[in-house]
Amino acid sequence: MEETLQQLRTQALAELGAAPDEATVEAVRVKYLGRAGSISLLSEGMKTLSKEEKPRIGKLLNDVRSEVAGAIEARKAALDEARDAASFANVDITLPGIMAWRGGLHPMTLLLDRAVQIFRRMGFALADGPDIETEWHCFDALNTPADHPARNEQDTFYLPDGRLLRTQTSTIQIRTMESQPPPVRIIGPGAAYRRDEIDATHLAQFTQMEGLCIDTDVTLADLKGTVEFFFRELLGDAAQVRFRPHFFPFTEPSFEIDIKAPALGDRWLELAGCGMVDPAVFDAVSSRRGDHAYDPEKISGWAFGFGLERLAMIISAVPDIRYFVENDLRFLEQFR
Ligand code: DAH
Repeated sequence: MEETLQQLRTQALAELGAAPDEATVEAVRVKYLGRAGSISLLSEGMKTLSKEEKPRIGKLLNDVRSEVAGAIEARKAALDEARDAASFANVDITLPGIMAWRGGLHPMTLLLDRAVQIFRRMGFALADGPDIETEWHCFDALNTPADHPARNEQDTFYLPDGRLLRTQTSTIQIRTMESQPPPVRIIGPGAAYRRDEIDATHLAQFTQMEGLCIDTDVTLADLKGTVEFFFRELLGDAAQVRFRPHFFPFTEPSFEIDIKAPALGDRWLELAGCGMVDPAVFDAVSSRRGDHAYDPEKISGWAFGFGLERLAMIISAVPDIRYFVENDLRFLEQFR
C-alpha cells in the first residue's frame, strides 16, 4: 500500500506538472482526489491494515493527499498567471494613456455666471425678453423715434412682419416695467444683434447685460455705488470706475463707464453705458400699462448696459472677438 501511495503521488504530480489548462487540472483532481479517485479509494483500504501499520500509512496518506491538493492549487495559480501575462503580451505599458474627455463651460457662460452672482448678492433678480422684438420695444419706448439718428447706428435684421432682432438688451427694461409695478431691481443678460461688418471687435450677434433699478428716491449715487461694487468684486478691490458724460436717448443724464484696474494695464477702458431713466421712457411704459405706477413725479431709476464679450476680452486679453464663436478648442480649453 505504501508503494502504491508513493506511485500515485509521483504520477499525480507528473500529470499536474504537464497539465496545459484548467480542465486538465480538474480532471487530475477528480482522478486522484475525487470521491472515486484513486487516493480516495485507497484510503478505504485502511481498514484492512494492522494496528501497527495504521498510523504510519494513515499519516502518509494524509501527506500525499495534501501534497497533491497543494500541487493542484499551485498549478491553477500558475496557469492563471500565464494567462494574465499572455493577455498583456504585445502591450506596451509605457505608452501614454488616453485621457477621459472632460467638458467645460464656454468663457461667456463663465463670465455671465460670475456677473449674475455678484448682482444677485445685491438683490437683483434675473429678467429676460425675446430676441425677436417689436420696433416699439427696441426703439420707440426707449425714446428713440423713427427719425432718431441712433436708429442708424443700430441697424439690425428685420423680419417681413416688421419685427426685428433686438439691437440691445434695453428692451428687457421695457418688458419688465410693462409686466410689473415698481420697485424693480433686475439684470437682463441676453443676445443683441446688429448689422455690423464682422471683424476683430464686432460680431453680428453678441451678448449684453442690462441693469435696471426703480424705486422712490433712487439716485445717481446708488448707480455709482452699484457699478463700483460690481467691478471691484469682478476685478479686485483696486479697480477704479469713472463716469464720463455721454448721450443715450433713454437716460438723462447719461454716462459712459470707464474702468481701470492693475490687472488690465494702467489705462481707462470704456466699458458700459448708463444713466438715470429718462421720464419719456416712463411715459411710454405708462401709456402701455394704462396706469400711473411709473409716474416720473413719484419714482426714479437708473439703468446700465454693457457688452459681455468686450468685458471678457479685456479681462482675459483676448485679441479677437471672433474667438468666442469659432468653437476652436485650443481657445475654449484655456478657460476651464
Ligand atoms: N443699450 C446701450 C447700447 O447698446 C447700452 C446702454 C446705455 C444701456 C445706457 C443702458 C443705458 O441701460 O442706461 O449701446
